[in-house]
Amino acid sequence: MSSGVVAEVPLTGLSFAGSLAMRQCFGTLSYNHADTWAMHRRVLRPVADRRLGTPDDEALGFHVLPWDSSLFGFPVAHVSADVIHTGRLPRVVESLRAEEVRLGYISVPWSDAGAAAAIALVGGRCVDRKVRFRKAVIAGLPKPAGVESVLGKPCTADLESLALVSGTYSRFRADPRIPPDLFERLYVAWIHRSMSGEIAEDVLVVRVEDRVSGMVTVVGAHGDAIGVIGLIAVHAGHRGRGYGRRLMLAAEARCAAHGVPAIEVATQRRNAAACGLYAACGYEVVRDEAVFHIWLEP
Ligand SMILES: CC(C)(COP(=O)(O)OP(=O)(O)OC[C@H]1O[C@@H](n2cnc3c(N)ncnc32)[C@H](O)[C@@H]1OP(=O)(O)O)[C@@H](O)C(=O)NCCC(=O)NCCS
Repeated sequence: MSSGVVAEVPLTGLSFAGSLAMRQCFGTLSYNHADTWAMHRRVLRPVADRRLGTPDDEALGFHVLPWDSSLFGFPVAHVSADVIHTGRLPRVVESLRAEEVRLGYISVPWSDAGAAAAIALVGGRCVDRKVRFRKAVIAGLPKPAGVESVLGKPCTADLESLALVSGTYSRFRADPRIPPDLFERLYVAWIHRSMSGEIAEDVLVVRVEDRVSGMVTVVGAHGDAIGVIGLIAVHAGHRGRGYGRRLMLAAEARCAAHGVPAIEVATQRRNAAACGLYAACGYEVVRDEAVFHIWLEP
């Protein structure tokens, strides 16, 4: 990897109307919310292959995230947790500064108090306790009734607002240094790019009286070892009626239909409803980690 400058990404401006008014959204998306490595690479492949997982990344201990950098307007990087145990974290932070990176993400197991202390020493702050759930997909699982795909259709205000609801506990909302409009742009870009098929293979919805009342985005195509649920939300007035469970089932059926043998979904430990839903649907926790933001003054 050469410099930490944002990659030469042909980022397309999305423009849209709706509850959030017309705006230009220079698309970016953090797949730390749903970041199986395979999906991360697939989603970013066109723009960042040379940056992710290369020997240069390993030597540097971080890689710049093009989409996040574009959204924030300055370089944002993912820092490898390996640098903590080799004692390199302070040096890596200096390299981040030298590359003018302003925000670094780093994740460590929740139980690793030593790593958390090392990150705190370089100014990192825990912004999320992220839990990843996984379930094996049953081959031939039928698609539940009352769920339809809206992939490729125009993104409606209902879908935008459900995307924002899905991010209620997001670290991009929890970190006081991130302005609320940035969080909104991130999640609105997420649903728009999902609807266009750019970063999701399907978007499934349930309707109540013709209005979209719940939605789930699914990543998982033939050949993937793991499918991923990106966003999921049910309208506040329609919760507790089984729609969340139905959407989960639909996401699993979608993976089953494409031969994807397992499915994952990540959420925040403090999101009791989401954790309850995933557990009720038979998912098991496969990872429990602390996510830190390291802000670097210019
Ligand atoms: C999480 C969410 C999608 C659940 O949708 P829902 O339609 O209310 O869920 P369901 O009615 O299908 O509930 C299915 C099961 O989930 C569990 N569950 C649902 N809400 C729960 C809550 N508030 N606390 C604990 N468990 C809950 C229960 O086990 C429930 O089964 P039961 O009704 O037999 O007890 C919904 O609460 C929501 O949209 N939350 C805000 C957005 C969000 O946080 N999304 C997750 C992002 S990772």
